[in-house]
Amino acid sequence: MHNEYDNETFFKEYAKMSRSREGLNAAGEWHQLKPLFPPLEEKSVLDLGCGYGWHCTFAANQGAAYVLGLDLSQKMIEEAKKRNAGKQIEYRVCGIEEYEYPKNAWDCVVSNLALHYIENIEKIFQKVHRTLKQNGVFILNIEHPVFTAGVGQDWIYTEAGTPQCWPVDDYFFPGARKTHFLGCDVVKQHHTLTQILMGLLDNGFALKAVKEAEPPEEMMGIPGMKDELRRPMMLLVKALKK
Ligand SMILES: C[S@@+](CC[C@H](N)C(=O)[O-])C[C@H]1O[C@@H](n2cnc3c(N)ncnc32)[C@H](O)[C@@H]1O
Repeated sequence: MHNEYDNETFFKEYAKMSRSREGLNAAGEWHQLKPLFPPLEEKSVLDLGCGYGWHCTFAANQGAAYVLGLDLSQKMIEEAKKRNAGKQIEYRVCGIEEYEYPKNAWDCVVSNLALHYIENIEKIFQKVHRTLKQNGVFILNIEHPVFTAGVGQDWIYTEAGTPQCWPVDDYFFPGARKTHFLGCDVVKQHHTLTQILMGLLDNGFALKAVKEAEPPEEMMGIPGMKDELRRPMMLLVKALKK
């Protein structure tokens, strides 16, 4: 399966992002995502699309007994092993779609900014439900449908080159969107809000929290960050296996 994260140019550009250089505290959503985690002492945690493994280290630092980080990208997993190794943490090159999802195996499943690469998220919700223990928690952060809907995933600019407005188009047509991200052509998958929230509710989850990421005040000095308050970019959900 093709994954842009194994492309040398994309991988190098991704490494320059502040979240890649500084970790979770440099991620605009972390102040809202962190409180969604349940107590992880002695728990097992599965990270779908773990990237550099920041959330795996967070879970290990919270006392998790075992953490498994999966990512389709060989390069990302190599980087995770360098940056976020730990005796409770295992990393595996594996697609979110391909993982075996053993029954009643995990206390917590997290997926941060990876599910918008998945075409059939409802199928993944079913598998996550199967693999969680009773009352297990699924925490996901997916690119917001308002952000993914438009054709090129970019602002419409004024003649002077400043962002004028964000196009929301073809909202009710889920599926692939060709975007230009970090200097490369990247295909992401648009899912409507109904697909995401009803996909969880229809497959045995209870929703415990829904948040739309708003970067914190202290990040407003970062170039372009104020524009992040003009339209939602990420949707955060905490769901419980009933
Ligand atoms: C934006 S990064 C987020 C990484 C990490 N979760 C974080 O928050 O730092 C998206 C990650 O999803 C991975 N990814 C994309 N499609 C995937 C798939 N089908 N299966 C597994 N991982 C995938 C990419 O390789 C990349 O590491």
